[in-house]
Amino acid sequence: MAVDFTLNGKRTSFDVPADKPLLWVLREDAGLPGTKFGCGAGLCGACTVHLDGAAVRSCITPVGSIGGQSVVTIEAVAQTDPGRRVSGAWNKLDVPQCGYCQAGQIMSATALLSQTPRPDEEEIDAAMWGNLCRCSTYVRIREALKKAAA
Ligand code: FES
Repeated sequence: MAVDFTLNGKRTSFDVPADKPLLWVLREDAGLPGTKFGCGAGLCGACTVHLDGAAVRSCITPVGSIGGQSVVTIEAVAQTDPGRRVSGAWNKLDVPQCGYCQAGQIMSATALLSQTPRPDEEEIDAAMWGNLCRCSTYVRIREALKKAAA
């Protein structure tokens, strides 16, 4: 099945099974390995991308369900204003430890700031609770998110 959508600002089409998860279309067919596989069940947040601006778990998003929409991945998120500020704050505060979850963390943080430029603690919790970090960098993630919002 041909699936057409916008990927990082460019119209694109992939001839793939409709039930193939977006995560694997990005990694295998689009050659974009920045979006990570963690649990494969929508539980860890490692695979988070933006779909029409909202943070979604690409591991449980069948590519056939996104026709015509706009997908942004970690490879291009810094081209947006909130993405640039989030990436800059992440670098400045040296947030990652092993780094595996950080693409997903940055995508969730950027989606939050796109919709809520000055989030309060509850809004941060609501946006970020589903992004797990086995190195427990949560304090630095929160500091960087607040720095990017300032
Ligand atoms: Fe998608 Fe864990 S790999 S939520």
